[in-house]
Amino acid sequence: MAIDGYMPGFGNEFTTEAVAGALPEGQNSPQRVPYGLYAEQLSGTAFTAPRRENRRSWLYRLRPSSSHGPFRPLPEGLLRSGPFAETPATPNRLRWNPLPRPAQPTDFIEGLVTFGGNGSPSHGVGVGIHQYTANRSMTDTVFYNADGELLIVPQSGRLRLVTEMGVLGLAPGEVGVVPRGVRFRAELPDGTASGYICENYGGLFRLPDLGPIGANGLANPRDFLTPVAAFEDVDRPTRVVQKFQGRLWAAELDHSPLDVVAWHGNLAPYKYDLARFNTIGTVSFDHPDPSIFTVLTSPSESPGVANCDFVIFPPRWMVAENTFRPPWFHRNIMSEFMGLVHGAYDAKAEGFSPGGASLHNCMSGHGPDRETYERAVAANLAPHKIADTLAFMFETRWVISPTRFAMETPALQRDYDACWSNFPKARLPGTGTETKR
Ligand SMILES: [Fe+2]
Repeated sequence: MAIDGYMPGFGNEFTTEAVAGALPEGQNSPQRVPYGLYAEQLSGTAFTAPRRENRRSWLYRLRPSSSHGPFRPLPEGLLRSGPFAETPATPNRLRWNPLPRPAQPTDFIEGLVTFGGNGSPSHGVGVGIHQYTANRSMTDTVFYNADGELLIVPQSGRLRLVTEMGVLGLAPGEVGVVPRGVRFRAELPDGTASGYICENYGGLFRLPDLGPIGANGLANPRDFLTPVAAFEDVDRPTRVVQKFQGRLWAAELDHSPLDVVAWHGNLAPYKYDLARFNTIGTVSFDHPDPSIFTVLTSPSESPGVANCDFVIFPPRWMVAENTFRPPWFHRNIMSEFMGLVHGAYDAKAEGFSPGGASLHNCMSGHGPDRETYERAVAANLAPHKIADTLAFMFETRWVISPTRFAMETPALQRDYDACWSNFPKARLPGTGTETKR
């Protein structure tokens, strides 16, 4: 069943055709494909991956995607990739103001800026963390990423991603995933757009297991939407830009490669409205670990240890009794990159703005700022709703190394440590300054 150009369900075996009769029936690669289309398999996992993890789709297109000349290297601008070695990995807590709008005409790809990451695409481990700021649509250019899938988190302005496999419309509050290799053109219906990207070199994002939560909850599979097939029959010079092993490469075509008339399979772009997230929290005391807010997880080879989790902090009721309600102080073996789509984050009264970001690496102590702490310990613990908030976290098992840009941009807040200064010492009864045993 299609919903306004989309098909519901996470990782379903979809079938879709933009022209009736284009999709072969009963087999993938008949001797003669309907209308003379070319059949092509796009693999998202190894051929031999276990069935429950195997992801691939069959595409039926006007021309084979192999129809192109050599790719030539392009300048990569501020886009970086693993291994991240421009600066030493830092234990310091980092926070950034929102990036300024580009002064020059800048499309989605030109406006990519890497903040940091870990692992490397050549080993299929880790993530690259980027922001995009754009003020013009891509024209006669399409992009694909050979290094990993792209989890896109719009912060301002809509994106219209015209992909090989259909049109994915994204607005702030939604997220979209474009699989590795899928070509797309990013258009800006609002003229400008900015947001965050987690480039996942590792295992494909999937829904987390729910354990004792049960069969339902968090992000429900039916709320993920994949576009129906749509194609363009355009014989006009088109540049294909790809990111391959951290570098940008371009080849010129005499046609648009967004020419897939029909496809079937379980590897495809998808989107999800974060307002559909079934948020779960305590109804007694203490709040659960933030893993309760996991939308998608990229597994590593260690069970339960994520290459990357995508976690959100959405609007929710706070009802815990006798509890410090904001996020507690903590030191985490995982490393945390955070962004804010809108509103305020409940651990930070000041300084963390929509469009901004923060990084707390492995074992770096962090938590509420002083103002948030004082307010929380004095609060009357009536039920209340945090209504205007949508923060998120890319949480990864590997330390996140910032790029040189991230360390040198004027957007870096040089005084971030100060938000944890001047906490008064706890006072024990009858204490002096000597060590107590
Ligand atoms: Fe944290």
